[in-house]
Amino acid sequence: MTATETTGFPRFPRGFFFGAATASYQIEGAHDEGGRGTSIWDTYCREPGRVADGATGDVACDHYHRYPEDVALLRDLGVDSYRFSVAWPRIQPDGTGKANAEGLDFYDRLVDELLAAGIAPAATLYHWDLPQALEDRGGWRERETAERFADYTRLVVDRLGDRVPRWITLNEPFCSAFVGYAIGRHAPGAREGRGALAAAHHLLVGHGLAVRVLREAGATDVGITLNPDRLLPATGSPEDLAAVRRAETLHNDVWLDPLFAGRYPQGEADTWGAMADGSYRRDGDLITIGAPLDFVGINYYRPITIADAPYRDEDPATRTAVDIRVRETWRDDVRHTTMGWPVVPHTFTDLLVDLSRRYPALPPVVITENGSAEDDSVAADGQVHDADRVAYLRDHLQALSEAIEAGVDVRGYYVWSLMDNFEWAFGYAKRFGIVRVDYDTLERLPKDSYRWYRDMIGAHRQSH
Ligand code: NOJ
Repeated sequence: MTATETTGFPRFPRGFFFGAATASYQIEGAHDEGGRGTSIWDTYCREPGRVADGATGDVACDHYHRYPEDVALLRDLGVDSYRFSVAWPRIQPDGTGKANAEGLDFYDRLVDELLAAGIAPAATLYHWDLPQALEDRGGWRERETAERFADYTRLVVDRLGDRVPRWITLNEPFCSAFVGYAIGRHAPGAREGRGALAAAHHLLVGHGLAVRVLREAGATDVGITLNPDRLLPATGSPEDLAAVRRAETLHNDVWLDPLFAGRYPQGEADTWGAMADGSYRRDGDLITIGAPLDFVGINYYRPITIADAPYRDEDPATRTAVDIRVRETWRDDVRHTTMGWPVVPHTFTDLLVDLSRRYPALPPVVITENGSAEDDSVAADGQVHDADRVAYLRDHLQALSEAIEAGVDVRGYYVWSLMDNFEWAFGYAKRFGIVRVDYDTLERLPKDSYRWYRDMIGAHRQSH
């Protein structure tokens, strides 16, 4: 009989912690309150055709006003920790200069509310809402943005550092750099080659500078959240295997190599050629980027199957550096979530085991996001019976416990997400929450998955 079979729930070591995660732009709303400035997402959402149904984060879940109710939901869920993000434009409306007191006050109240509920706050400093004023000066293409990020970090940690035990500098810089500056499907919606590669580098420099500031302020639990992908070849052909190697550079090595191996990605010349001219790199950057961390946050949702593909854009003048001549292929053998993402839980184990082997200096892992968007509906009994999400969470937590058994040092897990929210370019159409949000009334309704997760956390506590 396995450990799972004795309790019905995946088993985790003593001291392992559980949490739930959200992000500022996805839940807060109140876009023009409290002196908040404009972010690149406010701008992007207003450009026709960018976001499904023309949705914006103007109201979102109205968490800015309803945070006491949301903290009560977290308390009843029994989580040890809550991962939220700080909206930079609330703290510095134009991205520079002194702090906007009302912005800091909001997070001050949230942190106190969490602590009163016995929940440890985990603050992400950058979950994609860059002040528009900084984008107007070049955004992450420019080193200056990394420097301003360090200034902003200082304002936040000076105010909250005495009560926030865990800090995450950046969330998924892959998306900020490549989805934002190369593919254009996230704000600021650029389609550039060199700009995206420079953004990737400056995000890492910004991370390193922020770590320095956090350390000066005495922070002892500091990390970055990445979304390394489990990339599988569509076939065993040499072409598909080479395509996977190029995708590894883009998705994984760009981040992991400088952070945890003290080098720039080895495959970059093969992946994007002369565009990676490195002109945005300076001596000493690798030292800044490689500042020791207490944990690496990992967001994991699904594997990606990769095949070789010719350039999609045949005109070399407009071809972007990040068209790395790969395409994602569909799998017929597994279920897909409403994101169209294949559900293959063992790839979660495989990814973690592989990462810890490939990067001997990898710090302890915290899973900062995992979850699924499903076609939820409210049943006749007034409840959401989200059996697919429960199965997804159970199977991924089981896969995580297997990674731990295989020797990977994993310390905690945050479910994505506490509640349904603004899913970026998909607007409100994709629901990831374990709590349903009715967007007409803004009422919260815990789903079956909320109760399942609560019971799992309870069983974990009892077993130790
Ligand atoms: C990763 C991002 O950090 C989060 O903002 C997003 O909602 C989830 N993945 C789901 O796509």
